[in-house]
Amino acid sequence: MGLGLLATRALRSSSRVLRSQNPRNGFIRTIVSTTELKNAEAATAAAQDPAPADLPPRTPVGGARFHLSNPEDAIEVFVDGYPVKIPKGMTVLQACEVAGVDIPRFCYHSRLSIAGNCRMCLVEVEKSPKPVASCAMPALPGMKIKTDTPLAKKAREGVMEFLLMNHPLDCPICDQGGECDLQDQSMAFGSDRGRFTEVKRSVVDKNLGPLVKTVMTRCIQCTRCVRFATEIAGVQDLGILGRGSGEEIGTYVERLMTSELSGNVIDICPVGALTSKPFAFKARNWELKGTETIDVTDAVGSNIRIDSRGPEVMRILPRLNEDINEEWISDKTRFFYDGLKRQRLNDPMIRGADGRFKAVSWRDALAVVAEVIHQVKPEEIVGVAGQLSDAESMMALKDFLNRMGSNNVLCEGNGMHPNADLRSGYLMNSSISGLEKVDVFLLVGTQVMFFHFNTRCKFFLTVSVAVWDFSSLEH
Ligand code: SF4
Ligand code: FES
Repeated sequence: MGLGLLATRALRSSSRVLRSQNPRNGFIRTIVSTTELKNAEAATAAAQDPAPADLPPRTPVGGARFHLSNPEDAIEVFVDGYPVKIPKGMTVLQACEVAGVDIPRFCYHSRLSIAGNCRMCLVEVEKSPKPVASCAMPALPGMKIKTDTPLAKKAREGVMEFLLMNHPLDCPICDQGGECDLQDQSMAFGSDRGRFTEVKRSVVDKNLGPLVKTVMTRCIQCTRCVRFATEIAGVQDLGILGRGSGEEIGTYVERLMTSELSGNVIDICPVGALTSKPFAFKARNWELKGTETIDVTDAVGSNIRIDSRGPEVMRILPRLNEDINEEWISDKTRFFYDGLKRQRLNDPMIRGADGRFKAVSWRDALAVVAEVIHQVKPEEIVGVAGQLSDAESMMALKDFLNRMGSNNVLCEGNGMHPNADLRSGYLMNSSISGLEKVDVFLLVGTQVMFFHFNTRCKFFLTVSVAVWDFSSLEH
């Protein structure tokens, strides 16, 4: 919702209260509680700049770093009195991160375009008459940025109060609880009461499909999901409908979100408006143990974290790797874990004399394999690698066949004879991140988004770089 309209509604309700002359009117209550905050401007003016000489070194937030190819492109700004050198073109928020100051934000995301619509990142800049949205303000040479003044704090508290006017206070039944940006920020800038006395708005939930659950009354209209769909996933499925208090996120006409990257909106939504449908009401994040690992379901090897409770895999989340998957994963990677629980072939089976399969122990099954394998000639043995086999298992199978005197290996599906002995046979000497620089993709018998998830490919495909598909050609 536009903050202007929210402000209007708040002022309408508070002016009604203020018009009441009853001194015992319990509604007259201010959010600010300290003397400092009641007169933030004066308190700020009185605050002294800390002496830069005594400041301890700071660690950049979240490993924020940059590469300066030309030192003359650097500018110096001061964050809370701390001098920091940054490249030209960085925003005030990025400068603060380099200086080790974490600025609260909802709409800003480093991989998406800047929207500047939540205003949670307000900071004070010297000579600016009012707080500025640091994510949308370019840093200028010599700029003096103050992030921790009473004025900045009061401004953020005001924004938080506006956001909570319509956001439902349903954290106990919200799946985002415990990992919600709004919950975290309200601990720092929220109050235990608000001045908004009207009814909260309600928004109809959208059906985005079997993977993404929506509770749209929780949406704070940060538009991260819309920007992700357009800029990263390359689909125009999501957008903003309506204006003012009628503004809502939706799919324009009723339809599902069709992108194979749709699950990423669950991660980037800073509140509980978009959550995982299969994970709904299954666990709380503090009950889960995270294990960092690599996805084996496609040819990319996305970096993931598997969250488990006891022996049960509860969900899969992406892990940052700038050279491979950045911070995104495909829906297949994110949700394939249900295959570990349902319709599993858990026991080896052997066909009996009656022609029917019966479950046996691994010891019995391997004994039968050993018996049969010694009865056939080595050149009649063939190893077939399944499509979901990982590299280590395939290598073990190949070593085993080689020991038996056979070199017959097949890949399930396309029947290819992979020669895994020579790395150059399957590496084309171009890295995944290097795809951003290539002129042409050569795709052979594949569907790139389903088998080789890569947001970088997606970007190039959507801008119509020439792609030849030789899948119809004979081997
Ligand atoms: S659904 Fe979530 S990500 Fe999308 S605009 Fe609303 S709060 Fe932002
Ligand atoms: S993070 Fe700056 S306006 Fe939202």
